[in-house]
Amino acid sequence: MCGYMVQILSLSGITRDLEEGLRSKCKADIVKPYTKIFPDGEQYLRLPDALDQEIYVAQSLYPEQDRKIVELYLAIEAVKGLDRKVKALILPYVAYARQDKRFLVGEPISINALYQGLKIYGVNTIVAIDVHSPEAFSRLEFRLINILPHLFMAKYAESKIEFVVAPDKGALHRAKIVAEGLGVGLDYLDKYRDRVTGEIRVNTKELDIYGKTVAIVDDIISTGGTLAKAVDTLYSAGAKHIIAIVSHAFLSSKSIDNLERVGLKELIISNTIEQKISLPKWIKVIDISPLICPYIL
Ligand code: R5P
Repeated sequence: MCGYMVQILSLSGITRDLEEGLRSKCKADIVKPYTKIFPDGEQYLRLPDALDQEIYVAQSLYPEQDRKIVELYLAIEAVKGLDRKVKALILPYVAYARQDKRFLVGEPISINALYQGLKIYGVNTIVAIDVHSPEAFSRLEFRLINILPHLFMAKYAESKIEFVVAPDKGALHRAKIVAEGLGVGLDYLDKYRDRVTGEIRVNTKELDIYGKTVAIVDDIISTGGTLAKAVDTLYSAGAKHIIAIVSHAFLSSKSIDNLERVGLKELIISNTIEQKISLPKWIKVIDISPLICPYIL
């Protein structure tokens, strides 16, 4: 390819849509490894011949995340083997990021277990979308460019957002960017999750949302429990219409049914994760590659 700005080795987790965005909007030369699976299930990978001296390696670590992490390690070891340099990793979805501390005695810090090893291969910079715990990467002394996409995604909302709510205090920083960007009010819900049973509770509090269109801003939909509880709470507090803006969505028929049941009418998600089921019209997938382009020049 002629006239490209950067070369990206794109691994199996990068969604087709995002890959196309990186190619057309970031003007990147996308190269792919040759891959196969051995009969015992192990992965094989070989890099293409035409590889620049310095490249970006892109992988999104959604399920099966363990296989994708192994593929990532195989790729960067192969890059090193060719005496090439990884300028940065592009990790649109960073797996195992929620276990960022030892919540219960005897637990591992998953981020340490999985990402510390990247340093051996000279990887120092990670460009990521909405990592659950950026601090945990700083503790490992990575240069983390953590892109928060919600304000960009909010522009695709069909209804006018009048108030922004974070589903818990920890998510307030994301919601604040959207509220300030749109010039509307902001609050958070008083959410607790039982670490053993997983049960989610939201304590009642005063919210200035009566009759308003409210946007819930969060990083992940996993079971959908947090979002469903938040939607339910906000309707009970008088919200007229609710939009959810979430970076990474692991959607299933069950979670979509649950969200429909509590009355969610608009969900905006990004293309960091390949969706395994076809989505109803009220769920919109946004290409976030334009947010990555400025960091890979
Ligand atoms: C929690 O701290 C996160 O920000 C998400 O709200 C949570 O991980 C979503 O999980 P679920 O969909 O299973 O409630």
